[in-house]
Amino acid sequence: MPDISRVGVLGCGLMGSGIAQATATAGFPTVVRDVEAGLLARGEGTIVKSLDKLVEKSKLAPAARAGALERLTFTTDLARLHDCDLIVEAVTEDLAIKTELWRALDPRCPPETIFASNTSSLSIGVMAAATARPDRFIGLHFFNPVPLMPLVEVVRAVGTSPAVVERTMAFARRLGKEPITARDRSGFVVNRLLVPYLLDAMRALEQGVGSAADIDRGMQLGCGHPMGPLALADFVGLDTLARIAAIMYDEYGEPRFAPPPLLRRMVAAGLHGRKSGRGFYDYASDPPHPIDLGL
Ligand code: 3HC
Repeated sequence: MPDISRVGVLGCGLMGSGIAQATATAGFPTVVRDVEAGLLARGEGTIVKSLDKLVEKSKLAPAARAGALERLTFTTDLARLHDCDLIVEAVTEDLAIKTELWRALDPRCPPETIFASNTSSLSIGVMAAATARPDRFIGLHFFNPVPLMPLVEVVRAVGTSPAVVERTMAFARRLGKEPITARDRSGFVVNRLLVPYLLDAMRALEQGVGSAADIDRGMQLGCGHPMGPLALADFVGLDTLARIAAIMYDEYGEPRFAPPPLLRRMVAAGLHGRKSGRGFYDYASDPPHPIDLGL
């Protein structure tokens, strides 16, 4: 098997842009593919902003910033990923969309290319079964903001070869990340614990246990969390969280994973969290202030 030297990233949203930034900064020529030029431009803008912030804080040398940007190629053409040794998919959390993408990419790539999904909750094994390479299909789950969060979950599906697990773990370390391994069960390790906690904070808000600001301050000051659960939910994206929760509820059938009515209504109202400017907080002001949700 060839060493991983060229990386492809599918999707240039919050996670895809962060993953591309991490791989390019670590020295890998990286081809980023999304469906529209506008989405690619937005993702590139996010990367530039993040790299600038790291340079400003002296966490990255200006030459390393320039090198990372040179190693990035943005395209809408799936065929441009034909010579990548590893492809990380970070598109919408929708099994049909992901599966269709993998099916389209499979015949375009050499058989040794590793396919990795950054899904947070969908089955790696089901996606792998849509390709002719289930032994070279793996989960590689990053955390937001990718440039700062050290963890990566490496998920072994039923058919993933142990050698591919080892190579993917080694790749994660080359990105400067700390990998842990997890089984192919919805949510893996972190989201299985985190998602019910975030949903419970919403139920606490709905039930009037405390205000959004007090719930968040409580967990920050009482437990030393960098962000309270409602601010973190906004940060992850409420639409994404609702989708993850629904998938986990479907897999486990346990009420703790069920998206609370408040979350569903906020998503329907277009309150998608920080990325849309409004969620539990309004991000137009600095600091953001809690939104009156009519509770
Ligand atoms: N790129 C580069 N630098 C960044 C950045 C980015 N995207 N975002 C923040 N920073 C830098 C800031 O410049 C700042 O630098 P400094 O310490 O040198 O001043 C530093 O990070 C801290 O940023 P802020 O002062 O703006 O804010 P915080 O102190 O709150 O830190 C945070 C931001 C690192 C995001 C911190 O709040 C945090 O760790 N929050 C929890 C994040 C978390 O739990 N993520 C996991 C989500 S779950 C997930 O992703 C899984 C998915 O499947 C749902």
